[in-house]
Amino acid sequence: MRNTIRDSFGRAIRDLRISVTDRCNFRCPYCMPAEIYGEKYAFLPRAELLTFEEIARLTRLFADLGVTKVRLSGGEPLVRNGLENLGGLLSRIDGRDDLTLTTNGYLLAENAQALKDAGLQRNTESLDSLDEEVFKTMNGRNYGTGRVLEGIKKADKVGLHPIKINAVVQRGMNDHTIVDLARYFKGTGHVLRFIEYMDVGNLNGWKLDQVVPADEIIERINAEMPLEPVEQNYRGEVALRYRYVDGGGEIGVIASVTKPFCGDCTRARLSTDGKLFTCLFASQGTDLRGPMRSGATDDALRDLITGIWGRREDRYSELRSFATAQDNASKKIEMYQIGG
Ligand code: GTP
Ligand code: 5AD
Ligand code: SF4
Ligand code: SF4
Repeated sequence: MRNTIRDSFGRAIRDLRISVTDRCNFRCPYCMPAEIYGEKYAFLPRAELLTFEEIARLTRLFADLGVTKVRLSGGEPLVRNGLENLGGLLSRIDGRDDLTLTTNGYLLAENAQALKDAGLQRNTESLDSLDEEVFKTMNGRNYGTGRVLEGIKKADKVGLHPIKINAVVQRGMNDHTIVDLARYFKGTGHVLRFIEYMDVGNLNGWKLDQVVPADEIIERINAEMPLEPVEQNYRGEVALRYRYVDGGGEIGVIASVTKPFCGDCTRARLSTDGKLFTCLFASQGTDLRGPMRSGATDDALRDLITGIWGRREDRYSELRSFATAQDNASKKIEMYQIGG
């Protein structure tokens, strides 16, 4: 069965982003500040997490409804044991043509081969800076870059291509290191993407003046290594693409604050505990785990998903204003719970 469903603005469902755990071995201050997520923080108990079989079943149903691209995320997905077994289940689903993973890279070197063998096609690593001090501050754990860079090398070696590197840019934090990051990955074939710092969740104290606009990021790199724009790969692509004029490869910017891309947003998100979210900035999701565990049939679950997607009207980034972004009264889901 393949019958792509559409939301109330006519946007199809294409991507499913699955958070496989709410835990993480990093404490990036913009996502899981260490002072809040300390030793005693109560993450979800195991029984609340979707099992791999439950995730695979839901993914199959989403694929029936039009999803072709599946991304595993977290928290940090590699802290969930046996993730390659989930990869194996998902790689066998009909209709899915992309299976990828977003990771902080810390546990990647030891997992890359098993993931590749299980059928994972490619992967994306988060790496905000190559400056050791900046990186230590930005991961909140004082970890150096060594393991992440090893992870990227290993992913490359086992063929998890194309490799993408995501760097969140925060003014006054790492923006002075973006040109170095670009220079490091130029010519490697990996695609570095800079992400505008967003007001996701409620805990990071986001301020508009911490955002470095994508145009400025491109200008700063262009001044040292000339760039030219490249056409989108497909409609609704999140990153704006550029290439080095000298043939050194491609970079991207994700301008979710200064140039929102809600108009073509085809992304559904499944939280660790089995709720369906139709926007990264949603405050509420719809529980799929409950019905599934009470014996709902595939047809009933597909109807539930179709109804939720059909009523979808989200376009948070297009409506964002300084007031809405700073308004903590409307409690948003935290990014690590729905996988970014
Ligand atoms: P590729 O197919 O690998 O290019 O994936 P992608 O373009 O979906 O990018 P990725 O999953 O790596 O997302 C990169 C970052 O873009 C995320 O971590 C978010 O910060 C941001 N992002 C992705 N999807 C959305 C979205 O739907 N809305 C907003 N506001 N930001 C998003
Ligand atoms: N703004 C932009 N990107 C963010 N990420 C996490 N929090 C934010 C935020 N507030 C990024 C991570 C990772 C991906 C999952 O989302 O750095 O690359
Ligand atoms: Fe962990 Fe990623 Fe959040 Fe950092 S941004 S704390 S690596 S989930
Ligand atoms: Fe999609 Fe919501 Fe992001 Fe807009 S803000 S692109 S609707 S997830």
